[in-house]
Parts: sequence; structure tokens; C-alpha cells
Amino acid sequence: MAILSCEHLTKEYLSGEGVVRAVDDVSLLFQQGDFCAITGPSGSGKSTLLHNLSSLEQPTGGRVIYNGEDLSKYNDNQLSILRRRRFGFVFQAYNLVQELTGLENILLPVMLDRKAPDEKYLNKLIDVLGIRDRVGHLPSAMSGGQQQRVAIARALANKPAILFADEPTGNLDGKSGKEVLSLLKYVSHELGVTLILVTHDLHVAQQAQRVLTLEDGKIVRDSKHAEGN
Ligand SMILES: Nc1ncnc2c1ncn2[C@@H]1O[C@H](COP(=O)(O)OP(=O)(O)OP(=O)(O)O)[C@@H](O)[C@H]1O
Ligand SMILES: [Mg+2]
Repeated sequence: MAILSCEHLTKEYLSGEGVVRAVDDVSLLFQQGDFCAITGPSGSGKSTLLHNLSSLEQPTGGRVIYNGEDLSKYNDNQLSILRRRRFGFVFQAYNLVQELTGLENILLPVMLDRKAPDEKYLNKLIDVLGIRDRVGHLPSAMSGGQQQRVAIARALANKPAILFADEPTGNLDGKSGKEVLSLLKYVSHELGVTLILVTHDLHVAQQAQRVLTLEDGKIVRDSKHAEGN
């Protein structure tokens, strides 16, 4: 069974010029442990698709199914619990809490869920991500690459089933971008986390097992079908 799927997913926005169909009748299946990149030109609907798949936004048409559950039947509270426990998020702009140290940022989602931290697991994450000597510092004392690695640790702290990433290397220079991407890929694989990553960078997309290409809100290419695997 697919861990996540969408059927005829559509998202329309009302704007000054009328209705914009940012995602247009998209149906997809994601298997557990997959690493899938979503690519396409600016404005093609990549972020909108990610937001709707991850229930950060509600579709205007179609539905999203997580682990056999139709999310259109969930209320806001059920959705926020699902996001907190089963999904992790990494964004271009790290989004760390500036007043908290790296470690406090990483622990935040676990604390919000009133759970006892799995220290062994978190220590392993911190070591694999190479941020042991940075986690006592505030984000302002970290490089962009270090901040993003802390953000990845935070996203994985609750052992999510799916990690959603929107241009996670977008603010980084080539070298730190590559490091962050290979770490993201490595940890997700090690932990069996499904990784769904938006990028307009073809070098980044090439690292994925599967590449989906969006244009005008529609999937115009799915490497999974293109190569018959
Ligand atoms: N909240 C919103 N209200 C109105 N229109 C929106 C909203 N969010 C996105 N759009 C429109 O939907 C379309 C898709 O936007 P989206 O941000 O998903 O594109 P994208 O592929 O992520 O682009 P980029 O590569 O620049 O991040 C665009 O035409 C955009 O202007
Ligand atoms: Mg975007």
C-alpha cells in the first residue's frame, strides 16, 4: 500500500485576475521509503502541491490519503496532530526559533507533543548530521548549512513517516547545498523516511529515485512511468 496518495488533487486560489488553478487534477502514489523530487519552473505549483499533500493547506478539489486514511475527513485538530507526529518539514528559510539554541530547536516538536525525548535517537541524528559542536549555540552563531542541518534534525526528531522539503538547499551555496542534500538523503534512507522534496535545481532533482515535473499545475513527466520502473 502507498504511504501517501492523492486523487484528482486540485487547488484554486482567488486572485485579482480571477481564479488561479495552482494544482490541476493531480493523482499520484508515493511508496514508503521513496525519495521523490518535484521539479518545474517558478509558479508551476510545486510548493502548492507540497502544501496540499502535507495538509498545510486544504485542497479545493480531490483528496489526499495518508496510510489508508482519507484526510478530507479529518478536522483541523486531527490534521495538526498528524502533521506533528507523522510529518516533518524543512523549508528554504530554515525557520529556527532565534531565541533557542540548536538543541532546544531540535527538542521543540518532541516537547510540543509532551513526549520524553528518545535521547539515543536524537544523539545519533546530531552525530550523523555533524552538528554536535553547534547545538549549544543560537542560530545566529551558525552558518546557513549548519542551521539547515539543525532544521533537518528538528524535522526528524519525532520520527516522522514522511519528510516534506521545499527548496531545502535554496539559500545555500553550492558546496553546503550539496552537503545538506546528501545528509538529507542519507538520514532519510537510514531511517526509512519517505522524502518528498521540491526543487527547481535539476542537479538536486537528479539525486532522487523519482522525479516529477510540474507545468501549470499538471504533472507533465513522472520518471517512474517514463522509465517503466
Ligand atoms: N496564497 C496564494 N494566493 C493566490 N495565488 C497563489 C497563492 N499561492 C500560490 N499562488 C499561485 O499559484 C501558482 C503556483 O504557485 P507556487 O508557489 O506553488 O509555485 P512554485 O512552483 O512553488 O514556484 P517557485 O519555484 O517560484 O517557488 C502561482 O501562479 C502563484 O502565483
Ligand atoms: Mg515554491
